[in-house]
Amino acid sequence: MAILIGDTAPDFTLESTEGTIHFHDYIEGSWAVLFSHPKNFTPVCTTELGYTAKLKPEFEKRGVKVLGLSVDKLEDHGGWARDIEETQGAALNFPLLADTEGKVARLYDMIHPNVDNTLTVRSVFVIGPDKKVKLKIEYPASTGRNFDEVLRVIDSLQLTAKHQVATPVNWKDGEDVIIVPAVSNEAAKSKFPDGWKELKPYLRIVLQPRG
Ligand code: BEZ
Repeated sequence: MAILIGDTAPDFTLESTEGTIHFHDYIEGSWAVLFSHPKNFTPVCTTELGYTAKLKPEFEKRGVKVLGLSVDKLEDHGGWARDIEETQGAALNFPLLADTEGKVARLYDMIHPNVDNTLTVRSVFVIGPDKKVKLKIEYPASTGRNFDEVLRVIDSLQLTAKHQVATPVNWKDGEDVIIVPAVSNEAAKSKFPDGWKELKPYLRIVLQPRG
């Protein structure tokens, strides 16, 4: 059964470059990004892992723990990590799972057999502090992901969780947001005392809340 948004992220225990990861214990109370890439020592993956390492302060600022998954062996991760540091200017600074048996990859449907029977596609799962899946994205092996977009979605998800606002098309941090339909005008008055712009009763625009 595919994992859907709103499902509890399945738990697992697996070796990583930073020791054994008990997933639910590891992410306890935090947001998390779990992402797979097809293979060590491949060009697109090398750029993705280097860029994700550079984004570590951005993930930390948002209370997000990052976890990479590879179906390659733990002993191969070290050599590749050195290549990532040399070519991308950033050392691996988050755990990389060694899912040699594809246990987690199968659990999370990261293997798409009509593409390849063993290699994972580029999956991203964003998981909330309640351990529920908030976002899933899948990219083919040949297309590097946009990790700035992953951060943008996390900003949107965290705004929704904290302030009951949604984010409109192509929204960027700092731009106006939308009061979610579940908030009545009466409730909105105390949540947004500076008011909002009502384009339609169902389309209420408000300044992005801070804090
Ligand atoms: C890459 O990471 O560059 C890659 C991996 C598998 C297939 C194609 C590209």
